[in-house]
Formats: sequence, C-alpha cells, structure tokens
Amino acid sequence: MNLQVTAVSRIKLWLLFITLLPAFLSGCATNSATAVTENPRGYIADKAMVVSAHPEASRVGMEIMRKGGNAYDATVATQFALAVVFPVAGNIGGGGFTVFRSASGETGTLDYREIAPLASSETMYQDSAGNVVNGLNTDSHLAIGVPGTVDGMVKLHQKLGKLPWAGLVQPAIDLARNGVVLTQKEAEGLNRSREAFIRNNKHKPYLVNEQTWQAGDTLRHENLAHTLERVRDRGREGFYAGETADLLVNEMKRGGGIISKQDLADYASVWRKPLEGDYKGYKVISMSPPSSGGIALLELLEMVQPYNLREYGWQSAGEVQVMTEAERRVYADRATYLGDPGFVDVPVNELLDREYLQERMSTMDMAQATPSASIKAGELPVYESDQTTHFSIVDPAGNAVSTTTTLNGAYGSKVVVEGAGFLLNNEMDDFSAKPGVPNMFGLVGGKANAIAPGKRMLSSMTPTILEKEGKLFMVVGTPGGSTIITSVFQAIVNVLEHDMTMQQAVAAPRFHHQWFPDEIQHEPDAIPTDVRATLERKGYNLEQRNPYGRINAILVLPNGKLEAGADPRGDDAAAGF
Ligand code: DON
Repeated sequence: MNLQVTAVSRIKLWLLFITLLPAFLSGCATNSATAVTENPRGYIADKAMVVSAHPEASRVGMEIMRKGGNAYDATVATQFALAVVFPVAGNIGGGGFTVFRSASGETGTLDYREIAPLASSETMYQDSAGNVVNGLNTDSHLAIGVPGTVDGMVKLHQKLGKLPWAGLVQPAIDLARNGVVLTQKEAEGLNRSREAFIRNNKHKPYLVNEQTWQAGDTLRHENLAHTLERVRDRGREGFYAGETADLLVNEMKRGGGIISKQDLADYASVWRKPLEGDYKGYKVISMSPPSSGGIALLELLEMVQPYNLREYGWQSAGEVQVMTEAERRVYADRATYLGDPGFVDVPVNELLDREYLQERMSTMDMAQATPSASIKAGELPVYESDQTTHFSIVDPAGNAVSTTTTLNGAYGSKVVVEGAGFLLNNEMDDFSAKPGVPNMFGLVGGKANAIAPGKRMLSSMTPTILEKEGKLFMVVGTPGGSTIITSVFQAIVNVLEHDMTMQQAVAAPRFHHQWFPDEIQHEPDAIPTDVRATLERKGYNLEQRNPYGRINAILVLPNGKLEAGADPRGDDAAAGF
C-alpha cells in the first residue's frame, strides 16, 4: 500500500510538471484535469459521458445524448466536431476504428481505415537504387490514403444511430462557420506546421495566417462548412462523389497525388468481429486487424498475466522489466505477421495462443535484458506463408463506444483540399515502404504490410472496452503512433493492478518498448532514478522522451456513476450528465 501512495504522489508531481511544460508537443490535444492534483478522481457524471481531445467536441456529443441520441449518434457528432475544432487529428480526410459494446452486451467494430489508391505499388516510395525517398511517404500528395471517416460515420449511423443524420453533422457546421477560439497549444501547433502547410500546398491554405496564430484568435473554416453541408445533405455521396470528389481529385492532380474518382467511389468501411480476451476475469474487447492494436494488447496482457505486477509495485524494476520484455516480443511479431487480413493471412489464433505466449516469455531472464537483436518473431506452428485522436462515450442506456481516428502525422500530409477546406492524411507511411526501413514511428515491417492497391495499412490504434462480470467496466484508447498499444496496456494495468482511479491511470507517466530501437523510452519521471539504475545494470537502455499519447477513458464506478480520465497532456476534456 505504501508503494501505492508513492506512486500516486509521483503522479501528482508529474501532473505539475506537465502543466508547467511549454507546449512543445507536436500535435494531438488539449486542456484538462489539472484539478486531479487535489482530487484523485476525474470528472464524474451520473449516466452519460464523452471524453475527447477538445471541450467543444465533448460538449457536442453530450448535447446529442441530452436530445435523446445514443452513444453511436454522439460518436458521429463528436467525430465531425473534432474535424473542425481539432484539425491536428480530428478529420474527415483520414480514417479510424470504432469498437462498441451495446447496453445488452453485444460487441462489434467498424473499420474505416484508409486504403492504398489503385495506382499505388509496393515500391512506390523507392528510387531506382531501391532507397526510400525521404518525405515521399509522409510529406507529399503521394502519402495520402483514400479517406474512410465519412463512410464510417454513415455506416455507423445507418446501423446503430437513432436521431436523424442531419442533426448530427449540423453542430460541426455551426462550429466551422462561427469559428473556434484557439488555445495556446492549438496556436502553437498550427505555427509549428506553418512552413509545411506552405510547402505542401500550391494554394495558401486557410490554416496559414498572415501573422502567426495566437491563443484567443478565432479560426473560421468556411470551405469546410460547405463540405460538411454536402455531407449533411447527401451523406456518403456528399464526400465520395459530386463537388467534394471533384475538389479532392483536382487537388491530387495539382500536387502529383494518385487518388482517383474510382478510388473514392470504391471506398467501403468494413464491420469486423472484435478480438476478445481475458485478463484475470476482465473481458477485453478490442480492434482486430488491420489494426495491430487489439492483437498486441491481448498478447501483452496474456504474457504478463502469470506475473504478480501488483506485488512488484507500480513502475518498479520488476514491473518495467516484465512489461518491456513482453513488449519487445510482441512488436517483433507485429512487424512480421500483421497486415490487412483482406490481403495477408494474419495468424490471429496462433498469436493469441496461451502456450505460444508463455513459450515466448520463457526466454526472459529477470537477471538481464534480452537484447532485441536476439529476438525474432515467434515461430508459429501452422502459419504459412503515427496525428490521431481518441474519444470514449457512454450513453444513458449503457451503450459504450471507443473510437480512435487519425490523419497519421500532425495535420496529416498538411495538404488542404483547395476549396473544400479539409486536411488529408499521410497514412501511407503506416505501410512498410521497404522491408526493415522504419516508418515515422520507428516501426519496421515486411511483406505482410507491403503496399498494394486497395490494401489497408497496418495500424496501432487500440480502441478498447473492458467488461467486469458481464457489465461495462472501462472504455479506453489513445493516439501516439507505435506507443498507442503500450499506453492502453499501462492504463489498464494501472487500474487493475495498482488500484488507480481512471484519471490517475491516464495521467501517470508512461514507458514504452517496441523491439527496435532496443530501448525503454520513458516520459520524464516515469521511472525513478534507483529503478533506472537497476535496469541499466541489467543491460536495459533507457531513453527519456517528451510526453506522448492522450488517453481519453471512462470507468464505471461501483455505484454505477462514470469517471472520466481526460489526459492532462493535452486540452482533453470530459462532458456528461
Ligand atoms: O494507425 C496508426 O497506428 C497511426 N497512423 C497512428 C498515428 C498516431 O497515433 C499519431 N498521433 N499521435
């Protein structure tokens, strides 16, 4: 219990630290829960809640539920609102995943991940010598995958929504037209990308101001309001056909991109079965491939299950070691086996097999680090052959929705469709441009995640829902590229093993290992000096990095009320009633 007190006071210090940090972070997010320093619990609501990257988006989702909308309606409204108020990651020009659990316990997922254009090819980012051309897969019109978000929202609404579609898109249109007052972090984010906005567009995008942006400036999205009106009035056709499609394809022609009218017409999101596993009696429901998130999270939880993390103590040497060794093995599997299941045979059952995972951990030695160079993907007996944003919603009936969507990098490709006012992703970087060549998150991959026309790039997004004794327990997820999986993993471990509140679990400083580079990356203060020394003696490399991830989560308390975990690393905020 002492350890718990120490852990919690360390989190308080950490909160103070990140509150004072200059907003140097690229990307995702907003305000928060600094109040947690006085109150360990996050914002509490009686029966309905939205936790998202922006207070306005959370408010929009909450108001939809007040009007009688369900969590699916609120998801649609929040997603469109984020495309306006949180342009760094909120989007209609990107894609994502939604995991849901209905009040009666039915589960499902919707995959609206971007796909590679029909004119793409496996070596499209390599020069004649076979080298990956710097920036082509991250910072150009060629980096853009065919967007999936609008199709996803339409499908989600058609199957599960309750309120009329137009009313779900309208709040975003109003925000776009009236404008949004920029926070300090948002102004700095836009200013940081100023040069790239100018470089990557033939026109001067409206996200570039005459002077640099200041906190308190109002940003209006006039063209985006028109695009959203077309989506409001024509649904899917308002984006994938007609004027929006014309504008998007013209943008491609101007900038040397390859997305065609055919690509847009063909785009289809897919309902998929969620991956479900068990951790000490909690049912974990998460995203299936083409995200690696669910499979990696379930592998990690299964691998650490035999170890007594609670007894080791929060972020003690023992805990960091066990979690790190599991992580390096899982990311090796990820690099080798995972890709779009429509194109490659993903050995899901084999990777989640308990014996296989225990065997993988059997090479772990508590006395010393296992060098990543000595770890390969596991041998499977029968197998042949990074800006983002997360929001969590629970409605008064008890339906729960966990959604992570992305443009990939901050503001995606920085390409704004001229006349249509929305940013396009640079998701193509999530493919392996060449076997063994790391992407922007340092992730390597091979054949399973090679580019092919119509294929979905592998993702790390991990929208997740937990059940306890057949009842909803937690809704959780985060942005953060390759660190998404390990951040969700730690938030779950923090609550289940270290009795943290949702807010504490979200705020607690994190660490991460992804096989290569062979290092434990950690936020400042995540690992105490004495623990660091112990780990270094055992051969671990430790690398401090800037704070990462923006977990937005909801915990159902024993009295049935909902507790928010809104990540204090950003402007993230909860709303509810
Ligand atoms: O799908 C993925 O895994 C990445 N495109 C996510 C990128 C991301 O989280 C960047 N945000 N901080």
